[in-house]
Order: sequence, then C-alpha cells, then structure tokens
Amino acid sequence: MIIDNCSILSGISLNKLTSDEIGIQGISYYENRLVLRIPYLYINKMMKNFTVTFLVFLGVSYQSFSQNPLVIPSTLNGTNINLTLQNGTHQFLPGAITNTNGANGDILAPTLILNQGDFVNFSVNNQLGDSTTIHWHGLHVAPENDGGPHTAIVPNATWTPSFTILDKAATYWYHPHLHHKTDMQVSKGLAGLIIVKDAEEAALNLPRTYGQDDFPIIIQTKDFDANNQVMHHSNSDDVLMVNATIDPYLDVPSQVVRYRILNGSSQRAFNIGLTANMTFQQIASDGGLLSSPVPLTRLLLAPGERAEILVNFTGMSGQTIYLESFASELPNGIYGATFPGMGAGLTMTGYNPNPLNGTDFNIIKFNVGAQTGSPVTTVPATLATVTPIPEVNSNITRALTFAPVTMGMNQLNGEFLINNLSYNMMFVNYTIPFNNTEIWQLTNNSAISHPFHIHDVQFYILTRNGVAPPLNEQGRKDVVLVKPQETVRFITKFEDFANSSVPYMYHCHLLKHEDGGMMGQFVIGPEIVGLQENDVNNLISIYPNPSNESVTLDFAKATFDIKSVVVRDQYGKEIQSLNVGSIKNHYLAVDVSSYSSGVYYFSISGENTSQIKKFIKL
Ligand code: C2O
Ligand code: CU
Ligand code: CU
Repeated sequence: MIIDNCSILSGISLNKLTSDEIGIQGISYYENRLVLRIPYLYINKMMKNFTVTFLVFLGVSYQSFSQNPLVIPSTLNGTNINLTLQNGTHQFLPGAITNTNGANGDILAPTLILNQGDFVNFSVNNQLGDSTTIHWHGLHVAPENDGGPHTAIVPNATWTPSFTILDKAATYWYHPHLHHKTDMQVSKGLAGLIIVKDAEEAALNLPRTYGQDDFPIIIQTKDFDANNQVMHHSNSDDVLMVNATIDPYLDVPSQVVRYRILNGSSQRAFNIGLTANMTFQQIASDGGLLSSPVPLTRLLLAPGERAEILVNFTGMSGQTIYLESFASELPNGIYGATFPGMGAGLTMTGYNPNPLNGTDFNIIKFNVGAQTGSPVTTVPATLATVTPIPEVNSNITRALTFAPVTMGMNQLNGEFLINNLSYNMMFVNYTIPFNNTEIWQLTNNSAISHPFHIHDVQFYILTRNGVAPPLNEQGRKDVVLVKPQETVRFITKFEDFANSSVPYMYHCHLLKHEDGGMMGQFVIGPEIVGLQENDVNNLISIYPNPSNESVTLDFAKATFDIKSVVVRDQYGKEIQSLNVGSIKNHYLAVDVSSYSSGVYYFSISGENTSQIKKFIKL
C-alpha cells in the first residue's frame, strides 16, 4: 500500500512511503478513520532518525502503542511445584486476540524460586491438547528428569519428576522441548524463569527482592500474522516484548537494581546496553555467579543465554534510562545484524525489512524513582569462588563441526548439521563414560552464528579461536555463541547421573535450527574405572602383545555383547574408538602401526560392564 502526503517534522517531507518502509502491520477502519497499525519499534526506529508526525492526514490516523507497565511473572516456591500447561489468549495487538500457551495462566509461566539442596516434587499437567515436554534448561538433573524430547507428556497426562536442586545460585529457565514443536510452543508463550538460591549468594550484599530491586527480564521477539497469530520458524520477528509486555516501562528505585535477563527469543541476539553508554556490572553468567562483577557497556546475549546484571541508579531519581539493543554494532553473521550471514549476498527469507535488524532500538524504559527501605547502594567487589576445570584433566576432545545442509548463497534458509548428521531420536551420537572430563571443540563452518547448548552440565569456555574468552564468559555457561569460522573449546565433567537408556541433548538454541535437526544426543555409560586391567577371568584375549603392527582382540569367551572398544593411552586419553561393527567371528583386528611406543589400554564395554586390557606397543 502507498501513503501519500506524509510529513515529517524535521522538514523532510516524504511522499509515497511504502508500507514496508514504515512497517505497517495492520489496517482497520474505526470511527470514520483509517487506523494503521505501526508497531512501536518502527516508530522507535524512525524517532531515532527524525521526529515523525503523521497523526492525521487525509483522514488517516495512526495508532501506536502507549507505554505499558512491565508485567512481572508470578512466583512459585517451596518443594512442591504444580504447573498446568494450558491454552489461552492474550491481547498483544489491537484487533484480533492472539492464541497463546502458558503455565498456570494464559502466557509465560511462573518464576520458580528454588533453593540449592532442596528435594523438589514437580507436577506438570498437560492441558495443551497436544503432546509436549518441559525441560529445565541449565539444571543438572538425571536424564529421565530433564524433559528432553524422549520424555513426552501426552495430552491430559501429568508428569511428576522429583529431584534435588544441585545447582549454584543463578537464573535458569524452563520451556517445552518436543522434537519439531519446540519453537511453536515456546513462541506461543511457554517459557518461565527459574531462580536458584544458595548460601554463597545469600551471604553477598546483593539486591534480591523479587519485583522490587530484583527483576526478571525475558526478552523475546515474535512474528504475528495478519490475524495477529504467532508464527513460528519465522525470520520476520518484528514485535519485541519483555515478559510478554510490548513497549514496556518499569519503575525502579534509585539504588542498585538487579536484572535477570533471559534471551528467550527463537533466533534473535541482542547487543544490550544502556542510555548514554551507562556502565552496568554483569554478576552472573548462565549457571552461576562470576568471581567478581564485570563492568560492561555492551552485552551480547544469544538465544538461551542468561545474564544477571546490576545497574546502580543511586542519585538518579527522576531520570529515565532505556535498556537498548545496539544491533547496529553487531557484526554480520549474527541473527539480528544488518546481514544474518557473513556475506551481504547471503539472504534469509523474510529477514528484511525489519526495524530490529542492524539498527539500535529500545527494549524497556526504566523510570527511576524513590529508594526502597534498606536499599543496596554499592556493588560488591567480589562475588563467588569460580573453579574452572583444568585443561589437563580432560580425558578426550570431541570435535563437533556445524555446517549447512547445502553450502552456497541460499545456505541460511536450509537446515544445519552437526558432524554431517541431522538429529535422529533413535541414534545415540555419543556414549560418554560416567565421570568423564571432556573438551568439546565446536567449529562453525556455516555463515551464521549458532548458540550451542548442552544439557546435564555447566561448562567453562577455554578458548575462542585460541584466545581466552572475555571476563564475563569466564564463569559457568550452558550456551555459547559460535560465530562463523570460529572454533570454541569448552571443558566440562559428566558426573552424578548415568543412565544408558535416556539421552541428554546438545543443540543449536536457534529454535528453527533445533527443530530442523541441528541437535544430537548422548547417554552416560559406565565409568572407566582406573587404568588397570580388570579382566581377571581373561574373558578377552589380545595377541600378539607386545606388538608393533597389528593385534587381534578375541572375544570368544566374552559373556556380554560388545558395545564399544576404546583405546586409551597411559594417561587415560582416548586414542581411538574402534568400530565394533567390524568384529568378525568374535575377532577384531586392530592396526596399531601409527601408535607411538608405550603402554595402552583397551577398554571393552557392554551395556553395564567394561573390561580393561593392557597392551604394549613396541
Ligand atoms: Cu533450552 Cu535443550 O534447551
Ligand atoms: Cu537445556
Ligand atoms: Cu543454529
């Protein structure tokens, strides 16, 4: 559609703006006036460039949204948490009401406040009329309690996991995880925060009164169709909201305020900052407090990531400060930048025009007011003890490479693979020995950034392209953004839970990519018990030993089905994983010619047992 005669106060007069250029999303007729629905963000973007007024011209009036008070999700705490997943409706936009999903309400889900050490019983009743799962993102729980795609809750059923909260104080979240339906159910509104408290955090002088000086900030973008219904797997997410509130404001006290920020968007990354580059302090990453506050003016937050920040508003009563995304500063190759791929020629269906891509925009307005009683007015100098795992402890490095299904100019619209594989619920990508310490090396050979997430564990980033990560990434993490042509290495330990039947997931947290198969799964198998021969009954023989070129493993007397054979050096580092498919007539031939001379151990595992044999390479 074309609008004639639109005048702009700066003196520039624009004629024939297209609806794309001013972002008209809807049009209706109301009280003899034509009402154009122009989202706040478009207005916001135009306001950054010029002051716009085209309120009434040629009988046309425009309607934007007035500022709305930020909705603060309700809370649930204690050791019995009851959630009912339900369909609802929400008036996001003028006109048609939007169909939504929520827990204990129409949209979003209550903030769960849990204490480390508590044994908590959950009851999740599914009234969605469709199967779903609920995954506790970031929590360290047994695989059967993790709510991955294998743990579906069918309609009308109630899922009742119970587990001890083992996590450190931080901000986690929960959301559906049914394969192919994660984006749809999350985009329709199913997502909530989890705040874990512990003694170490409680001892610090930090703001922690929920809704007074400690606020949840769930940032999401959505795409609405012409009937105001939420689209999923869309690249046209141009409506921004915080806690499901479009164009929000929040009254905050003039003291130190804590924000628990979750990027709950399906794809969009935010480059967070404050008005006039005011400094804020990041105090926690995904899975715990940092060792000390990290002063920042920008914070890149990818989907799935959380950050707790402190903003010191002391002495600023009466002022207005915006939390913004400085997306104009995002390098290309990140969803949210001017170009979502590394090259300007790479396009994404529906990505443009969108006022959020590559331009700066406001996320929420803070009106600074009076102090609360006993305010926190200073930021603590130190926070928590962070104990990264030393790199030498690693037993194995696993290399994971991300690539598009088809390379080339259209690659951003295709699906993405990890090590050339798409997710298969029936295929276990890795069996990880219980208590193993591992380095995962993630290499992105595609033109777009992927936020990689792994279940079960928190990890420590060792390097980004060989260099130590910035200070605010030197804490516990469960999501890491891997940029095009970047290699990220992290270290973690798979402890406390083993279960060879229910897998844990790892995947890209761009929900379109995840639903499209950019995911894998692992089970935790038996522990590798020391590097000592334990085959006391000589069930397995190995000959010749010592040897120089090749050896034969003989399983004739083995009393279990051979599931894996792994060769380790004397330090326990994995040298080779042998193909058990090539066992013929209970013999497996192994070429050891490339091994350097020394002591090796063959660990031969069945479902619940493993035998270790020593071997010497001459
Ligand atoms: Cu937040 Cu596997 O997900
Ligand atoms: Cu998760
Ligand atoms: Cu991805």
